[in-house]
Amino acid sequence: MTRPTVFITRRIPEAGLDLLRDHYEIILWDEAFPPRHKEILEKVPGVSGILSLLTDKIDAEIMDRAGSQIRVISNYAVGYNNIDIQAANQRKIAVGNTPDVLTDATADHAFALMLAAGRHIVAGEKNVREGNWKTWGPGIFLGADFKDATLGLIGYGRIGKAMAKRAGGFDMQVIFFDPTAESDEKARKVDLETLLCQSDIISLHAPLTTETKYLINEDSFKKMKPNCILVNTARGEMIESNALYYALKNRLIFAAGIDVTDPEPLPHDSPLLTLENLIVTPHIASASFKTRDNMAIIAAKNIIAGIQGQRLPHIVNPEIYP
Ligand code: GLV
Ligand code: GLV
Repeated sequence: MTRPTVFITRRIPEAGLDLLRDHYEIILWDEAFPPRHKEILEKVPGVSGILSLLTDKIDAEIMDRAGSQIRVISNYAVGYNNIDIQAANQRKIAVGNTPDVLTDATADHAFALMLAAGRHIVAGEKNVREGNWKTWGPGIFLGADFKDATLGLIGYGRIGKAMAKRAGGFDMQVIFFDPTAESDEKARKVDLETLLCQSDIISLHAPLTTETKYLINEDSFKKMKPNCILVNTARGEMIESNALYYALKNRLIFAAGIDVTDPEPLPHDSPLLTLENLIVTPHIASASFKTRDNMAIIAAKNIIAGIQGQRLPHIVNPEIYP
């Protein structure tokens, strides 16, 4: 009997590849850059599963080109806005993601961005390297206070809660906006308007959907405090880039630390990269050694369950099950 085939759109850690090699024929896109849409279409005919990355747009055309035997699309990410879920539902294809294992790494990175943006870590370091550090000064690189600051979380799911836990250690007050979550001992639910007006730090931890696209726009920046630090480790399209540029340039807010951008990657000549009060990292919030191994294992297990016709351990569209 021929073994089912799985297309993997980039080399993931061996921990995941090993699990899949045991069961399937693997087609691995072993390039530094993602396959283009056209290249995915060429690879998928006949596959039973696709293990995709957040850089790959998986749409109805790809699902149909794969053929009616395809059972599972396993995304190597917690976010899955790159996959057309409705198209997957119509074709009864299970879609999986990799939550939980990246929660702490992502919250750690969001905290790092918050601290770095608030305390001029990048600009200060550059100042030293460029030979401009001449003496200790009472007024150089003054930055944010975190003790007693109000942290506003947009999205209070797994990662939002990990943020609230960390914030407790810094003696912060935590508020959140999330229509699907309730207040607990660590954080208090508020409406979006209150969050924008009261927060000293705003950090985004919601999925990208039609409701959250450009949630942070020109109007939102007008409501924020001038000392506000904005952090984004979710998806770039949740913030309007032009409005972010204007707000930072004109000091409507103090600083921003972002790990995701719109577009992504950010072009080298983006005006955002001229700003001293912005730090940008290259979408690496989940990039810790253990996290990436664990993501690979989960993504592989989702593929295996899907091809065997079992419920995925981390299913995004449970509505396909009877
Ligand atoms: C990364 O952005 C992810 O969604 O896992
Ligand atoms: C700072 O370095 C201090 O000693 O106050």
